[in-house]
Amino acid sequence: MKLKIHSPYLAAVFCFAATAVSFSTETPEAKPFGKTKEGVPVEVFTLVNKQGVRLRAITYGATVVSLETPDRNGKNADIVLGYKTLGQYEKSSPYFGAIVGRYGNRIAGGKFTLEGKEYKLAENNGGPGLKSSLHGGLRGFDKVVWRAEALAQEGAQGVRFSYLSKDGEEGYPGNLEAKVTYWLDDQNEWRVDYEMTSDKATPVNLTQHSYFNLKGEGKGDILGHELTLPASKFTPVNAAMIPTGELRPVAGGPLDFNKPTAIGARIQAEDEQLRLGGGYDHNFVLRRPLFAGLLGGRMHPAATVREPLTGRFLTILTSEPGIQFYSGNFLDGTLTGKAGASYPKRSGFCLETQHYPDSPNQPAFPSTILKPGKVWKSTTVFLFGAK
Ligand code: BGC
Repeated sequence: MKLKIHSPYLAAVFCFAATAVSFSTETPEAKPFGKTKEGVPVEVFTLVNKQGVRLRAITYGATVVSLETPDRNGKNADIVLGYKTLGQYEKSSPYFGAIVGRYGNRIAGGKFTLEGKEYKLAENNGGPGLKSSLHGGLRGFDKVVWRAEALAQEGAQGVRFSYLSKDGEEGYPGNLEAKVTYWLDDQNEWRVDYEMTSDKATPVNLTQHSYFNLKGEGKGDILGHELTLPASKFTPVNAAMIPTGELRPVAGGPLDFNKPTAIGARIQAEDEQLRLGGGYDHNFVLRRPLFAGLLGGRMHPAATVREPLTGRFLTILTSEPGIQFYSGNFLDGTLTGKAGASYPKRSGFCLETQHYPDSPNQPAFPSTILKPGKVWKSTTVFLFGAK
């Protein structure tokens, strides 16, 4: 598969891949995964690689329902939170494993003005006076059934999900054709490619909303996981969880993850931002290589997480300018996962590569406006391992 490589680590992996014995792959298997309440059939695609990694994704929300990876002793565990049945996803899911859109994260007051016209969105988040539109509205991309096509390349299996979001859906302008492709390759890379076109100018901000627990889903909290985030600044929020517009340095504070630090080490610190988020729930401004564009590449490191007990690690690279680190603060033990264990507070974390929250109302942030005739492309890579 074609990769634009920036990290020396990935480059090494790539060189190894190029010299390794080539491995032809069949298209992934598709099976029924029940029907929605409206009777629409949903399918599950199972992507496997030769290292024993298995990723299952369903056409409802392009949701990753399980991801099995080996620990340092070769023992597999499912490292993403989720449910056993489609009915549970439909009934109540905090976006487990889904693609969120058309606009992932929050838009202040559920409105924005574009080309002189005001657009009104569902205010599906926040208390009185603090309302916003979250993750695309009442029926965002996580709650619709996508079309799907099984794919294969040498050494990789894939599935391409497509969805046409009609002009006016959830209040957004333009017929938006969204394509999200998942690839799993033999080097333990899960690649997510996004591609969008629209017939009217519209904001777009799609992201993958998997909750990870590298010990295994249902195996307690994530506070001992060590996180590295290559970001010198973040976008502080107000009481409505909307960025104030400031890009604030992280240096010296509890949001500084430039050196590997346990998620739980400072989560209880006296800090206004941690209080507002109920823990970590913030967008970090990723450091991007100075001449990235000139060198022809687009990806930069976004995060690394290491779990000391199992040795599992996860490295994320992205073409996006930001990443939302959410420490699962709203999980409260009321949801029961695949293996029958409940999901208490902070039993999973999300690392959502994205443009900054509320960008349609913040002209100083990188633009999220997709114009007709243009193709919006974005890529995020999740790389798994254990040592
Ligand atoms: C947001 C959280 C929100 C969660 C919903 C995350 O992307 O940052 O604030 O509660 O999604 O599950």
